[in-house]
Amino acid sequence: MQKIHAAITAVGGYVPEYILTNAALETMVDTNDEWITTRTGIKERRILKGEGLGTSDMAMHAVNQLLSKRGIDPMEIELVICATTTPDMQFPATANIISDKTGMRNAFGYDVNAACCSFLYALTTGAQFIETGKYKKVIVVGGDKMSSIMNYEDRATCIIFGDGAGAVLLEPNTEGNGLQDSILRSDGAGRAFLHQKAGGSVKPATIETVMNKEHYVHQEGQTVFKFAVKNMADVSAEIMERNNLSSDDVAWLVPHQANMRIISATGERMGIPEEKVMINIQKYGNTTNGTLPLCLWEWESQLKKGDNIILAAFGGGFTWGATYLKWAYDTK
Ligand code: UT7
Repeated sequence: MQKIHAAITAVGGYVPEYILTNAALETMVDTNDEWITTRTGIKERRILKGEGLGTSDMAMHAVNQLLSKRGIDPMEIELVICATTTPDMQFPATANIISDKTGMRNAFGYDVNAACCSFLYALTTGAQFIETGKYKKVIVVGGDKMSSIMNYEDRATCIIFGDGAGAVLLEPNTEGNGLQDSILRSDGAGRAFLHQKAGGSVKPATIETVMNKEHYVHQEGQTVFKFAVKNMADVSAEIMERNNLSSDDVAWLVPHQANMRIISATGERMGIPEEKVMINIQKYGNTTNGTLPLCLWEWESQLKKGDNIILAAFGGGFTWGATYLKWAYDTK
């Protein structure tokens, strides 16, 4: 019997309309366009405005777009995995809310939270359901409303993050295309350097935690940067070696969009020239779990059946990893 691979067969994406520029940030915190551009590569980011809107609303748009592009009835979807660090609420899972808002009423669903690596972990998890042969249509959606946990008085973090979501459909492929390999890693000792202090079971919300601004992202940037550069580059090189891929064999690198300097270091280590690296950090900043699917969404029309693609990410936890896939379709 031919091996079943889980292939991405459709992509959808959504970014909110409101654009927060570096010039606007200059009026909010002590920063400047030159610093932000040279240190991060970011020029602007999108922010989800509007009372009562959360991650599920952006994910809903991405999923609806994906379904309508392929003419798929939402009732055909069997499983929804939502990769997010900013769920709509502590519970229920945002995947359940997305399913409700999009009419995917036959699907079961759950969230995966591995900070910026959630999408990569969720993609690998979703693929297993397809590879067993039991499931035929799985949606993996990654998105974050980072503005909901951002301190717009902290110049070290608020210049980096933005909001957005992207979704992919996984279906069985017996032509050899689809997910080929994944290397996923984590090291909980890294939690000291990137986390949200309060709001979890260790430190539930109190008036003090709010007053002390403990519900925002806490990041020790330099330390995270060092680990990100090393681990994202190492794991990307490792997945190439393990699959006997030379840099010429790789059509595209899809890196997590956290910092242009981390992206460049990863590309250089892999020997991949910049024209083969998907980069949209200048427009969206770091959308956490939106970065990888939003890249696929924007580059979809350039991707060709059989293209070797490597996705790589690094995030809080620490978590990091790389996935190697063969693209499964040409866009008409
Ligand atoms: O996606 C999850 C994983 N996260 C990441 O991968 C992020 C990794 N880290 C980074 O991308 C970078 O560390 C940052 C972009 C966060 C910071 O860049 P950096 O080059 O590491 O800057 P730094 O923290 O070493 O700060 C250098 C200087 C400091 O001033 P002094 O002490 O040298 O006088 C900061 O206070 O820049 C200052 N600074 C700023 N200046 C203007 C920090 N933030 C800003 C700012 N505008 N927004």
